[in-house]
Order: sequence, then structure tokens, then C-alpha cells
Amino acid sequence: MKKIAVLVSGGGTNLQALIDAQSRGEIVNGKISVVISSVPEVYALERAQKAGIPSYVLDRKYYPSSQSMTVALLEKLRELSIDVVVMAGFMTIVTKELFEVYNNSVINIHPALIPSFAGPGCYGLHVHEKALAYGVKVSGATVHFVTEECDSGPIILQKAVDVLPDDTPEVLQRRIMEQCEWTLLPQAVSLFCQNRLRVDGRVVRILEP
Ligand code: GAR
Repeated sequence: MKKIAVLVSGGGTNLQALIDAQSRGEIVNGKISVVISSVPEVYALERAQKAGIPSYVLDRKYYPSSQSMTVALLEKLRELSIDVVVMAGFMTIVTKELFEVYNNSVINIHPALIPSFAGPGCYGLHVHEKALAYGVKVSGATVHFVTEECDSGPIILQKAVDVLPDDTPEVLQRRIMEQCEWTLLPQAVSLFCQNRLRVDGRVVRILEP
């Protein structure tokens, strides 16, 4: 059974999707062992508590750099013998120290079809603002392995939805969460826990069970 750490910074609807998938038995061979937040008092921490999952806060503002925060995070992950790290709305930059230990074992959900609307400054609602301003007709979500370069790691799963003429960033965000993120992320985590993801350079192959 692989031990999963979920990293959060906000409301935690993706964390909730993982918790719900776990309670339906859909995270095969994996267990959410800890929730770690980079921001104190966010609703995601309450979700963890309600689900009986231990949680920790590594408050970004108390670390002088992204590197020192990453080292503290890594220490916690090792102490808990975590196998896979899932960034579910984690809005903090991590540095290479994490990937030296967790190579192709850090998974992120991004609310756009990477490589569009990705990279530094593209997070949360901003992603949907940019997509609407650009005038794209489809958008969606991407689950990918995290590497040193922001939003550039091998893609595990993607799903698209239509962008509709009257969409606001909030409406588009909700559609992408409901129709893409909340199913893709648990699916990808379950595949990882079953050792069904093989990374060939940039390409992730999904193996049969
Ligand atoms: C989600 O839409 C997630 O894809 C996005 O932030 C939101 C967090 O919501 N992540 C990023 O933008 C990362 N670049 P949640 O806290 O309700 O899961």
C-alpha cells in the first residue's frame, strides 16, 4: 500500500475528491496518510480533520526561501515514509531537493490544457482569466508529474471541456473542476499507486492492470 501525502494551500476541493474516491475504494493500493498545507487555517485542513487524516502546516511565510521550505517539507515526507506526493491546489514553489528524492513521484493538477496557460503566474482563477481573455474555445485540466521546471513535467491525464460564450472565470473554473479535475486527479493517483504509470522521456504510458 503506497502512502500518499496531499499538499494544499486553500479550499481543498481536490483533496475532497481524493478523500471521497478513497472512501469509495477507488484509490487502489494507496492511502492518504497526511495533508500538508503551506497556509494556516485553510478549509482544506478542516476537510482533512473531518476525514480523520493527520495534517501539518508548513507556513511559507516563516521560511526565508523556497529552498528552505522544500527542505522542511522533504524532512516531513521522509519522516512519514511517504511514497507519493500529490499537489492539490498547492500554491508554493518547490525546489530541486524534492525531485532528487521523489523522482517522478510528485503529481500536480493544473486547471488548463498544458502547455497552454501554464508556468509562472498561472495558478487558480488567473488561469481561467487568461484562457477567456485569449478566446480559446476549449480548456480543461492536466495531471502531470512535477519536475524542476514549472508545469512542464510529463503529462499523465488530460480532459477538455467547452468554453461557453457567457463564461466568467468563476463559471469556467467550476466546470473544469466538476468535469475534469475531481475525476482526473484520483484516477491518476490510483494509477500511480498500482504502478501502472511508466515514464518514457516526456511520455507517460498507462499500463494494463
Ligand atoms: C484547482 O483548480 C487547481 O487545479 C488549481 O488551484 C485550484 C485549487 O482548488 N491549481 C493550480 O492552479 C496550480 N497551478 P482546491 O483547493 O479547491 O483544490
